Order: sequence, then structure tokens, then C-alpha cells
Amino acid sequence: LDRYAVIGHPVAHSKSPFIHAAFARQTGQKLSYDAVEVLPELLADVLAQLHAEPYQGLNVTLPHKLAVAALCESVSERAKLAGAVNTLVRTASGWAGDNTDGVGFIRDLTVNLGVALAGKRVLLLGAGGAARGLIAPILAERPAELAVSNRNPWKPEELAEQFKALGPIVPRTHLSLKGDRYDLVINATSAGHAGTLPRLPGQIVAEGGVCYDLSYGTAAEPFCAWARAQGAVLSADGLGMLVEQAAAAFEIWRGVRPETAPVLAALRTPEP
Ligand code: ATR
Repeated sequence: LDRYAVIGHPVAHSKSPFIHAAFARQTGQKLSYDAVEVLPELLADVLAQLHAEPYQGLNVTLPHKLAVAALCESVSERAKLAGAVNTLVRTASGWAGDNTDGVGFIRDLTVNLGVALAGKRVLLLGAGGAARGLIAPILAERPAELAVSNRNPWKPEELAEQFKALGPIVPRTHLSLKGDRYDLVINATSAGHAGTLPRLPGQIVAEGGVCYDLSYGTAAEPFCAWARAQGAVLSADGLGMLVEQAAAAFEIWRGVRPETAPVLAALRTPEP
């Protein structure tokens, strides 16, 4: 039986085992998928151990997405651009690092939700690891502008400098957004995990505008509530992105693309 796992800390509440078990059933693939709790200081040892056992592939979640890159034998171009690795593929002598978060986000937005990015004014809130991973994938869709806004002004400036060759990226701060309007506003801050959202001026969501929070569950609630109050025609959480990044990893590992819609629907069904 081919073995896979998600590694993280904490990892007990990860939805990845549920998602990959559903993909495996649906596609008739025989595999196992566990959640492995890994302390940061043990990351290198555990990666070697899981390789030896052997595991065929791993997903990587917080807080290991950055650290894992340095422990890979090779890292894909898109993972280098994201500065993070979320998928590991076994090689004979180590792990190849990849990142499916960006394609997962773009697929959820464009295919599942039917929102195109070409020619749109896009606002990315936050300039940490989560925001960074979306910049190259968004610019590849040819938006009219990608504004990256943050509390701390230095981080967007650094990101804009680094990604400027890929498209029209503009560094901003939240308060400076007053008077501007965006067709798509993406929350990539971690503020929702503290039950809040960035302080934003009103009226930055354009007529017919869409809002998307990368987190899901209670962490997505403050921003999604703000989005609805601002008149967004659609206010989505990141559960679809979670399922899509998993599907992209599954396809890399198994060579078959699972159907994401039934799995997303199952995750959205309240537990009895
Ligand atoms: P992640 O990996 O989730 O992106 P991170 O790299 O620590 O985590 O980045 C957190 C992001 O959320 C940053 O953009 C941070 O803004 P600052 O750089 O200005 O600190 C943002 N953030 C966190 N809490 C916030 C809050 N209460 N209001 C606004 N932005 C917040």
C-alpha cells in the first residue's frame, strides 16, 4: 500500500486525511494517508524517517512550509517563487518540493467560482507567507493591477520589488486604499485567527466586486462579514482552495485528477 501523510504542528485537526481518503475512494486508488505531528526541531529527522519507511509523498502544513524547502533535494520553480513548499514527492534519495497552493487558489476562483482575473483590479491584503504564495499565480492571470496592501509598509515594497518583472504589482498600506476600488479583494492576513480583520477604508470593493478569504471556518468570518456589508456580490472562504491544492497534489502523486466538487460539498455539510 502506498503511504502518504500530512506533516504539521498542530496537525490533529487537518482536513487533508479526509480529503485524500475521499479522492482515493473516488478514483479507485489504493493508498493510505495519515496525519503526522512533527515538532519544528525534529523536522529533518522525521523527513528522513518517513522517506525510509517509505512514504511516497507528503503534504506540509504550518509551521513547516518554509523550513521544509531547505531540506528538499530539489524545489520546483513555483515553490521557489512562493518561498514555501506544501507538497513533497519521493525521489530515490530524498524529497522533491513543490507548491500547489497557488494553482489551488486560481482554480477555486476561476473554475469553481467562475471569477476571471484578466483585466481586473486585484487587492491582496497581507504581505506574509500566505500572500507571497499568491503573487506569481495572480500576475500570471494578467490582472490590470495587483495592489499588495499591509499594515507594515515595508513588506509590500519588498514584494513589489521582487515580483515587478512578472506584472503590474503596486505596494500599498491599508489606510492608503481610501478612494480606490477593486474588483477582487483577497484576505491573506492572519488577522481572522485572532477574530479580527485589517482596518480598511470603506468603499474599496467595486460594483460587482468579489471578496475571498484564504482561511475557512471561524477564521474567515470577520472578513466575509465585512465583505457582505460592503456589498460584495460574492464572499468566499478558502475551503475550496484547500480542496483544490489537495487535488493538485493528488494528481502529481497518482497521475489522476480527482473530482473536487463532491469533496468540497461533503466538507460543507454540517456534522450531525
Ligand atoms: P501567514 O503565513 O499566515 O501569511 P505571516 O507570514 O506571519 O503569516 O503574515 C501575517 C500577515 O497578516 C501579515 O501581512 C500581517 O501584517 P503585518 O506585516 O503588518 O504584521 C497580517 N496581520 C496579522 N494580524 C493582523 C491584524 N490584526 N491586522 C492587520 N494585519 C494583520
